[in-house]
Order: sequence, then structure tokens, then C-alpha cells
Amino acid sequence: MGRGTTLLEAALLGRVPSGCDANPLCQKLIAPRLNPPTILKVQERLAEINFDAVAKMPKGLLAFYHPQTLQQICALRSYLLGREKSRLLDSVDAWIQMVALNRLTGHSPGFFSVYTMPPNQAVSIESQLRINKRLGQKPEFRSVPDLILAKTKSLLGTLSDAERKALRGSGAKAEILVRSCEYLPEISDDSINLVVTSPPFLNVVDYASDNWLRNWFVGLDENAAQFVIHKKLEDWEASIGRVLLGLHRILRPGGWIAFEVGEIQRGKIQLEDSVISAGIAAGLEPELVLINSQQFTKTANCWGVRNNDLGTNTNRVILFKKRF
Ligand SMILES: C[S@@+](CC[C@H](N)C(=O)[O-])C[C@H]1O[C@@H](n2cnc3c(N)ncnc32)[C@H](O)[C@@H]1O
Repeated sequence: MGRGTTLLEAALLGRVPSGCDANPLCQKLIAPRLNPPTILKVQERLAEINFDAVAKMPKGLLAFYHPQTLQQICALRSYLLGREKSRLLDSVDAWIQMVALNRLTGHSPGFFSVYTMPPNQAVSIESQLRINKRLGQKPEFRSVPDLILAKTKSLLGTLSDAERKALRGSGAKAEILVRSCEYLPEISDDSINLVVTSPPFLNVVDYASDNWLRNWFVGLDENAAQFVIHKKLEDWEASIGRVLLGLHRILRPGGWIAFEVGEIQRGKIQLEDSVISAGIAAGLEPELVLINSQQFTKTANCWGVRNNDLGTNTNRVILFKKRF
């Protein structure tokens, strides 16, 4: 599921999406986008929230934020956690939480923080202090409610009536599962037309520590999620085999799986080889592999990765079909 783009696009097409991710943050990122409030409702709610309220402020976060911005973030955090605890968190609060989660850190004045990495790859406080020193930067004040409203306007301003209608229909029926995708008992046999998925590429990304700031904001324990992190290719392949077996069960005959992986370890390992053999063992028929050679990306740039050198430089999508 990740940030949920596949679910959102499916709902906009009038399909009923089912999504699964081990990370509970994913639910907070996609559920509000499947049920978006109006801009006016968000504006009214932001005006009701007391951004000056006294809240616990972790001082270390001043590496990222101006003191007044941190005050506003902490006030919003405490408001949202309070609403959640008393079961009052509605779709407008959830939308505000989702936008805030995506604005926590970034590289431009559109984010709450001073120049840094995006919130799904948040650096540690120590690293941020080093970045600030190197760039000679000091966090400037950013208004949390103003930035949330501006982003809400840019996200919802172009949503057409037809798109809202599609979301009210299919989006409302969406099934969002926060669990390991190795077993999906909630989803019935032969019920899914198309699976689109992209697993962790071996142990390349540490999803728990990369999301430490987002987890703090929503009060999540970063060790709560059951990620598939395998160091050895054979363990990864066995786990992908279990996933593909489960996907074979839920797919209707004639249904498709688009399974995206990449090449790792400087192209020495092409993960599609493992996925294809695991898929065949699960009873699926590989039809083709789509290879997209990526161009230079901004994120790779931040990591000091030059294209076609380190990192993952291609998307490799294996298309499987379930015949019967
Ligand atoms: C390569 S990312 C996919 C990113 C997604 N395509 C996106 O654009 O946001 C892999 C995803 O797998 C999730 N994940 C890791 N282990 C999992 C497991 N056992 N079951 C379900 N999801 C898992 C991670 O939380 C992460 O969101």
C-alpha cells in the first residue's frame, strides 16, 4: 500500500480498492484521501484548533523547527492524539493529520522544517544539526495552519464533482488492512481482479527508523509494524513465495498481478529472477517483465547517488496471470 497511490487511483476509476501494508502509518496517509473533506471544512477546523495550546515540546526537534513552529506542531499533535483517544477524530481531523504528516520535513518553505530530507526518510537530530552547520542555516518560522490550508487547497482545489462521486462510491467501500501481507484472511478467494504491489527490496530501506518523526507525530511505536526485512536472498525469496501463494488464492481466474521490484547491489542481483521462480511455484504464469530505466531523481541526489551508479536505477514490473 505504501502511501496509497494505487488505492486512490483504483477508487477514482470506480474500482473497489483493498490495500495492505505492515506499517500503520500507511492507513493514516490513504484513508483521508479516499474520503476527502471540503476545503471550507478544513479551513473552519483549523480556525477552531488552538495552535498556542501548551503541549510537551521535545527540545531536540529544534534542530528542524523554529521554536514557534515546533510549538504549533506540538499543539496540533496533542489535539489530534486527544481526539483519537476520545474517539472524536473525524474525517476532517484525519485529513489535517495526513497533510501535516506530509509537511513535517522537506526541502522548501512549503514544509514546516528547515531544509532537510522528506518525512519518509527523516534524518536523525544529530544529522540535522550537522546539515544545519554545513549549510549555515537556522530554522525560520513556518505557520503550521497556513501551510496545511495551502496544501489542502492545492490537493482538493482541482477535485471534480465526478471524482468526488467516485470516491464517495468506491473509496467508501475500500478495505485497508494494517498487517503483514504474507497472510490475508480478510480477503475472500477468487475476489480480486488486479494486484499492484512493490515489496521492500531485500534490506535496502529501514522503514521503521526512516519514519521516526512521523511515528512520533501520530504517537506510534516504531517497532509496532511487522516488516519483511531479510538480509539473505533465499529468505527474501521464501517470504515473497508465501505472499505470491496468498495472492494466487485471492485473485480471480483470469486476474493479474503487477509485481514491482528493482535491481540491487549495483545490478548484481535482479530481483525479478527470484520473483518469477516464486510466482511459478505459487501457480502463477509470468507473462512479461516491464523494465523502466529511471532518470536521475532528486532523492538519489540528496543521498549523493549518481544515476546508474549506486542505488536502484530501474523499475522492473513482473506481470503474472492466474489462468484458473
Ligand atoms: C517499496 S515500498 C512500496 C512503496 C509504495 N509503492 C509507495 O509508492 O508508497 C514497500 C512497502 O512494503 C511495506 N511492507 C514491508 N513489509 C511488509 C509486510 N510484511 N507486509 C505488508 N507490507 C510490508 C512497507 O511498509 C512499504 O510501505
